Amino acid sequence: MDTEPNASDTILRFRRSERTLHWAIAVPVLLCWVTAVVLVLAYNPMPLRPFRSALSWAHRIGGVALIMLPPLAVIHSHRDVRTHFANIRQAWVWTLSDVRWLMRMALAALFRGIQLPEQGKFNAAEKLNFMLVMTTYPLYIVTGLLMWFTNANWAAWLLHAAMALLATPFILGHLYMATLNRETRVGIQGMISGYVDRTWAKHHYARWYREQEQRTSNRTESIAVESTLTPQTPHTTADASEDEHPVGQGWRTGTEFPPVRPF
Ligand code: HEM
Ligand code: HEM
Repeated sequence: MDTEPNASDTILRFRRSERTLHWAIAVPVLLCWVTAVVLVLAYNPMPLRPFRSALSWAHRIGGVALIMLPPLAVIHSHRDVRTHFANIRQAWVWTLSDVRWLMRMALAALFRGIQLPEQGKFNAAEKLNFMLVMTTYPLYIVTGLLMWFTNANWAAWLLHAAMALLATPFILGHLYMATLNRETRVGIQGMISGYVDRTWAKHHYARWYREQEQRTSNRTESIAVESTLTPQTPHTTADASEDEHPVGQGWRTGTEFPPVRPF
């Protein structure tokens, strides 16, 4: 079980199932990407350099991991599958405020004092990243397997390499935001423990933060009403225990909670 750092200072941003899926994608993608960069930059100009086949195999192992791990992560947390659907919906449903955010973000990088519109669970750049990962995932697999197991593979190579080229600024931008950028790197805790600083979340994802607050207060009210009606029922009212409040799923109380499962 996750240990909640301090309920008043932090808020649950990513449930265990979301974190598991994230790392099940991130680790193989990073392995594929790093090995691909070395193949392209170091070996394509000089194919006879030593260890090419070791690198090529490392890439293929990354590819196999990318085929296997994400589905396994989803199967492992199948009871939480609605959380993943909720995230997909968050990423693919765009509003005018997302477009405004993207446009103003470009200006905000240049000029101080530019106000960005409030964001939901993901900002528009994160939505694009999410969409790119979702659409290229099956294409990497198909083109990778074609290159691996067939001869007629130049078109597969072209698409495969073009997607890798397109992904590169997203991967580098994502790593920069998650680890180096002072404003955003606070969020990495969300992909480690699940919890992020409340003030940071309120500032960066104001609309999402309000929705979570609203959900918590609705749940507290419904628990209060229920315990008045059936005072003998034991309740856990801990605000953000992730095992007890799946995102946007209408879980309410007692036996309706999904069972607590170790990772
Ligand atoms: C994020 C994921 C991936 C990226 C960024 C990526 C990128 C690349 C790039 C740029 C190349 C060209 C290398 C070159 O010209 O020498 C390549 C080659 C290759 N990729 Fe991927 N790839 C990914 C996933 C996969 C997957 C899922 C598979 C399938 C299992 C796969 C199998 C292959 C194979 C077999 C080659 C040829 C390797 C060789 O020339 O020895 N890749 N990949
Ligand atoms: C060391 C490597 C990585 C770190 C530290 C990292 C960290 C993070 C963090 C902190 C978030 C949550 C941001 C938020 O609060 O909304 C996130 C989200 C996400 N990550 Fe990663 N990540 C890594 C690698 C990757 C890779 C390689 C991919 C796949 C290309 C990936 C795909 C995603 C997606 C799709 C999301 C949700 C949308 C978004 O926030 O962009 N991550 N990651």
